Amino acid sequence: MAGTVRSLIGGRAVDDAPGGTLQISNPARLEDLVAQAHLGDATTLVEACATAKRAQPAWASTPAPVRGTAIQRLGRLVEDNAETLARILTREIGKPIAESRGSVQEVVDTCTFFASEGRRLYGMTVPSELTDKQLFTFRNPVGVATIVTAGNFPVAVPSWYLVPALLCGNAAVWKPAEYAPATSEALAQLFLHAGFPAGVFNMVLAEGPSTFDGLSQALNAGLVDKVGFTGSSDVGRRLGELCGRHLQSPCLELGGKNPLVVMPDADLDLAVEGALFSGFGTAGQRCTSLGTLVVHESVHDDFLARFTRAVAAAAIGDPFQPVLYGPMISERFYDRFLGWLDWVQPHHEISGSTGTGRITRDNPRGGFVGDPDAGLFVHPTIVDGVTMDDDLYKQETFGPIVGVATFGEFDEAMELANGHGYGLSASIYTRDPLNVFRFRERISAGMVSVNNSTTGAEAHLPFGGNGRSGNGARQSGVWVLDQFTRWQAMNWDYSGVLQKAQMDVVDLAGDPSFRLSEP
Ligand code: UN1
Repeated sequence: MAGTVRSLIGGRAVDDAPGGTLQISNPARLEDLVAQAHLGDATTLVEACATAKRAQPAWASTPAPVRGTAIQRLGRLVEDNAETLARILTREIGKPIAESRGSVQEVVDTCTFFASEGRRLYGMTVPSELTDKQLFTFRNPVGVATIVTAGNFPVAVPSWYLVPALLCGNAAVWKPAEYAPATSEALAQLFLHAGFPAGVFNMVLAEGPSTFDGLSQALNAGLVDKVGFTGSSDVGRRLGELCGRHLQSPCLELGGKNPLVVMPDADLDLAVEGALFSGFGTAGQRCTSLGTLVVHESVHDDFLARFTRAVAAAAIGDPFQPVLYGPMISERFYDRFLGWLDWVQPHHEISGSTGTGRITRDNPRGGFVGDPDAGLFVHPTIVDGVTMDDDLYKQETFGPIVGVATFGEFDEAMELANGHGYGLSASIYTRDPLNVFRFRERISAGMVSVNNSTTGAEAHLPFGGNGRSGNGARQSGVWVLDQFTRWQAMNWDYSGVLQKAQMDVVDLAGDPSFRLSEP
């Protein structure tokens, strides 16, 4: 059954669809219509931001521990609706059901963490240099947070922004990916039932260009105080420019070209397992997915043979079955993936499947689970012989394609791991602690794995990247609090006289010319 999904502003569904309507099909079974989305336009976004702006002051003056109870209720609602939410997610974007359950759990974990942050949100008391004077720091909410998220993690990643933003006393306008409206609507309903007052949480369904236009108008009107964005580096750059003109620094989580380095002393079976999940889990559709394997020349052939065997044997197909990956998220992701296959050059060697491109009955994949013709399934592709001049090395490819490059000296491995300018996630497989610490120090990535997948960050460590992967903003854990609050410093002089800092400070008499003499 396909439901109609509408924007939700001030707790009410918006009936008209000035941005048109969009039909969303199950990418594993295209004939299954999942949702029909009524899209808003720039004005819809501005209205949502204005509604949030009006609701925010009362929410900010609600005690933080009370705000935390709404987060706690949200966590329980998500937990109690976990299976339904996971199934909607799998049906709408084709993520394997086990991973969808994990994504839902990530929302619960985020709520668990921030529910009690409402009882902390610590500031400091700081001693003053003057007598009868005390210094303090307070965290103030920023105001209205407008959050624009991608659809590959349609519940977990939005929760990383929305949960702390709301907990800190901000009002939120969420613009989810328009190609995941059913999942977004389900999560939004859980937010609306968690007890946030009307107007504090709003959702706008819209396409990219009208969102950008609306955001620009809302920023001009002073209705947006913080932008959060997860998506491509190109869009992130444009949003960064837009926000910069308003002296705002957005929270940007962008693309990745995440390396996985295999040192000569690595446990090769473990590295193969890690590379398989990093590169092909979620059909490579994570910002943290493996881009390029950087393999030492002494183990290259052995590693590649084992990796090829593992990829060739992996189960692909119906995402409700235990498969490594299901379909591409949508037609848009599928089309872009086929384009990236054109980057394979004559000097490359391909392996990992019985074909390339779309999996069909005529272009079959051994061991496929289900009917390949029903959905947007693609072959996994390993591309050996990648060099730093290749597009496949330089650009993010959001799909099941993994490059393999070879190195001799450690310095070469580092050059390959950093040379593309992205810096999100990186992994090294080695048994030598010296390699681990050298790698950690020199890798540009914001997140480093040791003997583990490039994907699968836990919900309470700082998440984010550098260079083309972001502007240094970090989400999750205590670190994200700096995105959604501003520090306010207060001093209170109760001496009854005007004491001037730096000038009226007591000078302790000492004798700096004193020297010890040997007995
Ligand atoms: C993303 O693809 O935008 O660390 C986020 C991971 C997931 C989040 C990925 N927990 O792979």
